Amino acid sequence: MKPRYSRAFAKNLKEKAMMTQDEMKQAVARAAIEHVPAGIIGVGTGSTANFFIDELARIKGKIDAAVASSVATAERLKKHGIQVIDLNEAGEMEVYVDGADEITRHMAMIKGGGGALTREKIVAACAKKFVCIIDQSKLVDVMGTFPLPVEVIPMARSYVARQLVKMGGNPVLRSGFTTDNGNVILDVHGMSILDPVAMETEINQIVGVVTVGLFARRGADVCLMGTPEGVKTLTR
Ligand code: A5P
Repeated sequence: MKPRYSRAFAKNLKEKAMMTQDEMKQAVARAAIEHVPAGIIGVGTGSTANFFIDELARIKGKIDAAVASSVATAERLKKHGIQVIDLNEAGEMEVYVDGADEITRHMAMIKGGGGALTREKIVAACAKKFVCIIDQSKLVDVMGTFPLPVEVIPMARSYVARQLVKMGGNPVLRSGFTTDNGNVILDVHGMSILDPVAMETEINQIVGVVTVGLFARRGADVCLMGTPEGVKTLTR
């Protein structure tokens, strides 16, 4: 039999659980600061990345500038007085720090829940080290429970969706959403991603696809995972 709680008690329980997840995100954001070298750093997008930006603000004197993976991240960095520069000016960076929607022990990730996957993949490609920061809910054995985001040129939306159906997925247009690059997102449900590298390659080949939110060919190098027992470090 299900335990019966009052609404207020249930709300309180939910708030506590949410707070714990935020605390885990904050803890990994703090731990990621140890991976920040002097110079220019690449910064990701999302709620965990936001905690990281807030931590970065405390040591902003150490870095020269940041490269942002989205307009939202650029705005948050600037609010903290951190200089944001164009990727083309930055060249190769030592480190890129970002969250993930799912990650495996082999460091392959699904990203793009926030819709910034293309710029995230570009900035990550320019960094020697990808530091992924997550709470423990993101670690999975097989990816695909989280719908796989695919950024698509608007005129190719239906064509790409049909190709994704042939691959066994159920693509759903992200309603009312346009990426920073002016494109749309198809969130693909029902994919069991057993070979992330092969699937990333296959989806990237579909005409009209800008980027698939699978980060397997270039996965994370280090994953800092927040747990109730503290921050754990995972590597390849
Ligand atoms: C943004 O497009 C995403 O790739 C995020 O990095 C990812 O969704 C993780 O976000 P949260 O830290 O908010 O879970």
